[in-house]
Parts: sequence; structure tokens; C-alpha cells
Amino acid sequence: MRFYENIKKTSLHRLPQRSYYIPEGEATCTDLNGIWDFQFFENGDAAQIGEEWDKIDVPSCWQLRGYENPNYTNINYPFPYDPPYVPDINPVGIYRREFEVKDTNMRQYLVFEGISSCGEIFVNGRYVGFTTGNHLQSEFDITSYALKGANELVVKVHKWAVTSYMEDQDFLRFNGIFRDVYLLSRPKGHLHDLKITTENNSIYIETDRKILACLYDDGVLIKEQFFNRSGKLTVEDPKQWTAETPELYTLMIKCAGENIIQKVGFRTVSISKNRELLINNRPVKLRGVNHHDTNPYEGWCMTRDEMLTDLLLMKKLNVNTIRTSHYPPHPEFLNMCDELGFYVVLETDSEAHGIVLADPASVGWSTSTVSPGDLPDWKDEHVERMARAYNRDKNHASIIMWSIGNESGFGENHKAMVDYIRSVDNSRLVHSEDASRMADVGKYDAEKLKYSDVYSRMYLSFEQMDEALNREDITAPIFLCEYSHAMGNGPGDIWYYWDKIYKNKAFIGGCVWEWADHAVVRDGVQLYGGDFEGELTHDSNFCADGIVFSDRSFKAGSYEMRATYAPFRFYVKENGIYYKNYFDFIDLTGYTLKITVTCDGAVVDEKTVSATVKPHGTLRIELDKKLPAICKKGAAVAVSLYKGDEEIGTLERPLDIKRQREEKCTELAELFEDEFNIFACGERFKYAFSKQTGNLLSMVIDGKEQLKAPVMLSVFRATTDNERNLRGRWVNEECIDRSFHKVYTATVFDGRIRVRASIAGISRRPVLKYTSFITVYADGRINTVLRANVSESILYLPRLGFEYVLEKDSPFTYFGYGPMESYIDMFHHARLNEYESTPENEYVNYVRPQEHGNHTCVRDLKIGKMRFSADSMDINVSKYSVKQLDEAQHTDELPESDGTYLRIDYKNSGLGSTSCGPLIAREFALFEKNIIFEYDMEITK
Ligand code: GAL
Ligand code: MG
Repeated sequence: MRFYENIKKTSLHRLPQRSYYIPEGEATCTDLNGIWDFQFFENGDAAQIGEEWDKIDVPSCWQLRGYENPNYTNINYPFPYDPPYVPDINPVGIYRREFEVKDTNMRQYLVFEGISSCGEIFVNGRYVGFTTGNHLQSEFDITSYALKGANELVVKVHKWAVTSYMEDQDFLRFNGIFRDVYLLSRPKGHLHDLKITTENNSIYIETDRKILACLYDDGVLIKEQFFNRSGKLTVEDPKQWTAETPELYTLMIKCAGENIIQKVGFRTVSISKNRELLINNRPVKLRGVNHHDTNPYEGWCMTRDEMLTDLLLMKKLNVNTIRTSHYPPHPEFLNMCDELGFYVVLETDSEAHGIVLADPASVGWSTSTVSPGDLPDWKDEHVERMARAYNRDKNHASIIMWSIGNESGFGENHKAMVDYIRSVDNSRLVHSEDASRMADVGKYDAEKLKYSDVYSRMYLSFEQMDEALNREDITAPIFLCEYSHAMGNGPGDIWYYWDKIYKNKAFIGGCVWEWADHAVVRDGVQLYGGDFEGELTHDSNFCADGIVFSDRSFKAGSYEMRATYAPFRFYVKENGIYYKNYFDFIDLTGYTLKITVTCDGAVVDEKTVSATVKPHGTLRIELDKKLPAICKKGAAVAVSLYKGDEEIGTLERPLDIKRQREEKCTELAELFEDEFNIFACGERFKYAFSKQTGNLLSMVIDGKEQLKAPVMLSVFRATTDNERNLRGRWVNEECIDRSFHKVYTATVFDGRIRVRASIAGISRRPVLKYTSFITVYADGRINTVLRANVSESILYLPRLGFEYVLEKDSPFTYFGYGPMESYIDMFHHARLNEYESTPENEYVNYVRPQEHGNHTCVRDLKIGKMRFSADSMDINVSKYSVKQLDEAQHTDELPESDGTYLRIDYKNSGLGSTSCGPLIAREFALFEKNIIFEYDMEITK
């Protein structure tokens, strides 16, 4: 056994974990990031350090610096499951640099914020010790190794160690020194650890030295007191910290010439009798997101600026909670969370998901291989991982829950982690999704439920949420640690989850999976699993599942989350707006509300008010003008919340009012027919209908052909990522991606064209049979009424509608939900209005090309010389065909645009989040079996 395969000894000479701080005063911190010497060995155990050194920057991931390739695997371990052993051929990266020690009277410490997977430390050729635990901090006392002046530091990083069995998170697998390295030179007699807690109006300080504690409020010294190791400071009527009001005090601890600064927030966490989550005794909902450290060029490395950017963007999207999935972030991230105001579920670095696939005879949680969490030898490492996270991060007001890890099963060692964290901290909650889930897996075990203070589950369907709510054995608040899988175009269900969460006190919220797409950008193309040479197992693009793109730009789904998480809702009644304040602590002082009434795209009333309303209270705002009672296309009321000039959120509700019928020409055009076609002509038009396709073959308007291909009725769309599990059904079972069109009859009847036809997938019975009635009027209007019956054996149709291929780059205008793409389950970010756009503008650069660019509740669309209108329709204008989009796996595989692909759809199914979540709810997809759809095409002036 090699030293790094011993689970009983996963470090040597690493110091006990202390709270994170960078001492100031007489202490100095030397940044050791930068360019290091580097040598890489495929067969690490046989590494012979040579004379030739490459250069590498630290922090970095060596797979992104030309040593090996990235590998993306979700559940599968990237090596055989044979704990405690890892493969004999275990690569090694050797890092070397010089550092300077100025004063050897000081004590010298090397701190590593993150090494993957096992780092052996050598100073001046002497062995210092080793560490494991990728995303945990390691500190070594090198006082006795350090020399005055130049010193040599060598870190030998082994790709895998026994601890890799506990680091099987779903991400691109990287190695190297991927977080900061620094040297702390500290005066003798300095303190080591520092624990700060608050209770009522007191700050309790526990440390291991005599100290002077100075407390500042906004830069003003308000208290100064000596303590012998521990004591308390009292603050009169202290300001309370919440995510909405991140009030912090600054505590400066002076000891042995050092100053250590820690921010202190007064905040309590508890659970009410009604199973609500209470922060400072008030019920709070967690509007959360899961955050991984990810950067499309740098892998796991994130700079402070990038971390801050993520947090500011989350604020913009109205996120108030972060689960640090599935490991502690860089410690500075948590300082930022304290300052900016986020509730944090701090998860330690522990996941053993691969156990569910390790044995081909037992797949899944109920049968999976014995987990490291069950093996007595692995207990200390489990507890230590929790302890290292706790000890580093214990002083943060932002942390409200400790999570013992992710997807590892729930064994004795997990219980020990929970027992440990409860024994050291009773001021926060404990989170274990495994405890909640595993109580029900195999033989029911109610005892497990006791090991998590919240009943935490991922990807529950709406029905499963109700079931959980009604179970008597579940007495804890219900938390969705992951929900609304944000992969690709979507998620489509987030708003509806929150309809539910807001309706019941015991639902305390959840965290969207996940913050940003993981990808590796090369030559401008985003790559994912399977794109890298040498990947022995991979999970394709499942890593690209962020609510924001990998470059952090927003997609429609981001705005859908923003709308859902907006701290208000409203409804309209009797010319009044009832505004419900969903802030938990803010009474709207300093905020303004803007109310906008629009009718057919024009603003008909606008009002701005400043008013206060207590948190969770309702405010009625009287409208000055009467709401419109009739419209042509649609009317809506929007409410925007502003803080100063900054818009926090806008929500819109359509007004349910009568729509005026348009006056239209009713005189029929004359029809002629030959063997294959039916013709209609008028002053400005000449149409030909094909008896073979049952639809328009040629549309000449003002002497110009409009169509590049016959109009076709179709049901397929380029599968979205969220439909990855349904694709098999559509493509292999129903075969609707390769469909044929059959016209049984196409006749002229009563001056109209009547078509009886069907659509069928290859080798399959027809998926849909229909009759369409096509009427051409003297002014060139074509009215189409479609009556369709969908086969019972079809699950649901991706969409149903007419595809037109028009001239390339055709600009258009529409009235409906825009300006970004909208779907029947993802339109809360959108507004009902008149928009101008182009096919180019409609394109959304998803990591894997897929269906995008839809607009729902569209009343009319003008393109070229045509105007399409319906009571309500879905439209899509794309520079690519369904086939082109569906075939491409990367954005660079899309061809040059060769036309404008227009769809006039009865309905385009919603998006859901089925890639990991439940099947899309029935009301949001085309589950209907009997369909009637009517639309008009008119010639514009
Ligand atoms: C969850 C897991 C996440 C991620 C997600 C799918 O089961 O906790 O880490 O794998 O599924 O994207
Ligand atoms: Mg997993």
C-alpha cells in the first residue's frame, strides 16, 4: 500500500484547522501564487525529477495547461472502484518555486487553500508533510525548515489518493494547486484559533491566547476589552444581520503584535412550531442556487473578482441563498457572502456517488456497494472533513446550515459527522440530503430522518412535495437542496415550484441546480464530456446545466429565476393593485413601485409610488385611470420594484378582457385545380396548394415567391437538453423525428380546400391524423383550421404547427411574450408587447444546439409581406432548421444559415426540467389528444 492509500492517515504534520484569517500588524502574508517550475509524470510513482523544468502558473488546473486532458464524469469514478487503492499508474505534478523569509524570528506557515488530490510538501529539500482533501485548507508550520533569505518550496501533487473516493462530485475532474498559496510570517506567541459567536446582545470570543478585542461599528470603535482566552463583549441593541440587511460589526483582535480582523453579524437560526425557517425569529424563504467553482478557461480556479461577479449577478437575479455544492468554496467567497448578504448552506467536501454504479449487479442507492460511509476505518476521515470545513468557516454570519456532503449514502460515518457538527455548533442547522432520502431507500429507517434538521430532497415533483408534506414522520421543514435542473433551454418549472413553496409554511425554499454551465472553451467552442482525448468514461454535456452560461451571461431561464425570486407578487382587483411584499425584513422604505398598464403594446397608464408595507404585508395601490375593458391584441399590468434607479424586478399579469374581432374580407377567392395542385389568384397573389403535401407549395405575393420549400405540418423540434431522457422515446420508439406526411384526400369543397392527412414516424403507425380546412379570400388571406387527433400511444408532442421556409435573414415583428424566448412554462420574465426582431437575434447560443427562440401567447406576426394571426399561437423564427439544430452537438457544427425557418404553432411544449427533475407537468406540454387550431395569413399593405 502506498502512503496515500491509507485512509487512517490522510495527512502528516498538517496543522489542526483554525478559522480563516490573514493576520495583519507585525505579521506578513507573502503571496506565493505566480509562475512556478513544473514537471509532470504520467507514472507518478516512478517520477525521477530531471533538470528540465516547465513553467506553470499557480493556481491552475494542470489539465488546462497541456498536461493530460480534462475529463468530465458525473457519477462514475474516473478509476476502478477498489478502495482504498487507486491505479498504480497515478500521475504526479511537481511544483517548485523560491520564496523569501525575511525574519527568522517569526514563525513561518505555508497555507494551501486547495490542492487536488494529495500534496507532499518539501522545504529546502526536507520533507514537511502531506495533505489531502481537495477543497479544504491545509496549513504547515515550516518554522524549523525556513532559512533567512531564499528558500525552496517543492510540492508533489498526486492525481489520486484514497480520499478521491470521497471526492466523486459531478464536475470536470481537475488536478493541481488550484487555489491560493501563501506564506504567513507571524510573531511568536500568536494566537491559533478564534471562535466568535453571538447571542442576544453579546459577542462571545474564544481563543487560545490573551487578547485585546476592539469592536467597530462603521469604523467607529465602540468597545475595547482585554480577555484571557475567552469572554464576551456586549453591544447595546445590536443591528441584526440578514441576507437582506447584511449589517456587520468589525472585530479586531490584537495579540502578540498581530491584528486579526473578523466581521461579526448578529443573527439567529431556528425552526418555528409551523416548521418555518426562522432567521432572527422571522420566517424566511430560501431563494437559492447551487454554486460550483467553475471557469471555462480555468476549471476550478476562480479569482476574487470572478467570485464577486458571481455573487453580484446572483443578487441581480434575486437569489438570497447559496448551497456551496459540493465542497467549501474559497474562504474569501464567504467573506463576500457576509458582506453582500446571502444565506449559505456550507457543504463539506464529501461525495461518494460512484458507489451506485460500482457493482454491475447492484445499481442504485437501494442496492449499492457498501459505502465508505459505512466502513469503520473511514470514520475519522469523514468526521475530519466536516471538522475542517466547520473550523475554517465557523465565524460567518452568512452560514445558516452545515451540510455533511452530497450523494454518499448514509452510514455510520455520516451519523458521526452529524454528531460531530451538532456537538460543536448548536447555533445552526444540519443538512443531509442523504439522511432524508436514505430513510426511505430499502428498509424504511425513521431514525435517519433525525440526522438532518431539514427534510432535504432533490428534484421532487409537485406531487412528491405534497406527499412529503402529508407524511407524519416528516416533522422538519422541507427544503429542496436541488430543483429546477437548469440545463440548456429552461428551466420551465421554477415559477410553479414557488407557487407551491409560498403556499405552505413548511416548504422553506430550495436551490436551483445549478449556477453556471461547466465547459471548457477552446477556439471559441464550448466543450464537454466526450470532447477530450483519452476520456475512458464521460457524461457528455450533463455538466452544462447552469442557470447562467459559462461566461456568466444570462439566458431567458436566468430572467425566469429573477422574476420568480423577485421579492413580491401582486394581483389586480377592482382598479387596485394588491402588492404583496415578500421581503422578510424590509418594509420598502427607500424603494419605489412603478405600475404600468399597457394595451396593445401602448402604455395607457403609469404610476410611481413610494410607500411602506411591512415584510410579508399587502399594500393596495389605487389606479387613477380605469383599467381598459377591451383591446385588440392584449392588455397587461406590470409592477416594477426599484431601489433608487436599480430595478429589482418586474412582474406582469395579463388582463383578462375582451378582444375586439378584426374586420376581415369575407369574399372568397376563386380556386382552380389540376391533377397535383389547387390554385388561387388575386390582384396581388398567386398561391399553389399541393395535393401531395396538403399545403402551400408556392406563394407569390406582388410578383415574388415567398416560400423556399412547401409549407409542412410537423410535430418535432430539436430536442432540448431537458428532454435528453425523452429523446429516446421520441427518436427510437415513436420515431417522430423522421416522419412522413400522407395526404389521403385534398379536395375543393364549398369553395374551400379540405385536406385529410396524417403524419407518421418511420416504421410506426401515424402519430397524428388531421383534417384541415383552408380558405382563401379575395384579398389573399388564407384561413387555416386544423382538426387533429393524436395517437393514444404517444406520450406528448414536442410541438404541433406549420413550418414555413422563407428568405434568409427575414426581419419580423410580433405581438406576444418577448423580447427573450418564452414558453408556456417559462414566460414570467417576459412581457406582452410588440417586438421587432431578426432570425439572428433570436438565436441562443446553448452549449449544445437545441430548440430555442420560441414566443408564446402570440397574437400576430409580420414577416415579409405576410401577417400571421391567431387567438393565441407559439411562433419561432430561426436561422436554422429543426434538423440542423438537432444534428449539431457543438455550436461550430451549425452550417451557414440558408433560410428563415418560421413556425406557426398551435402549441410548443414547455421546457420543464426533466433532464434531472420530474416529467414536465401535464398542463405545460402538448398532452392533448384532440386539437383545433385556427390561424390566418394575410398580405400586408
Ligand atoms: C444531483 C447532484 C448534482 C448534479 C445533479 C445533476 O444528483 O447532486 O451534483 O449531479 O444531480 O446535474
Ligand atoms: Mg453526484
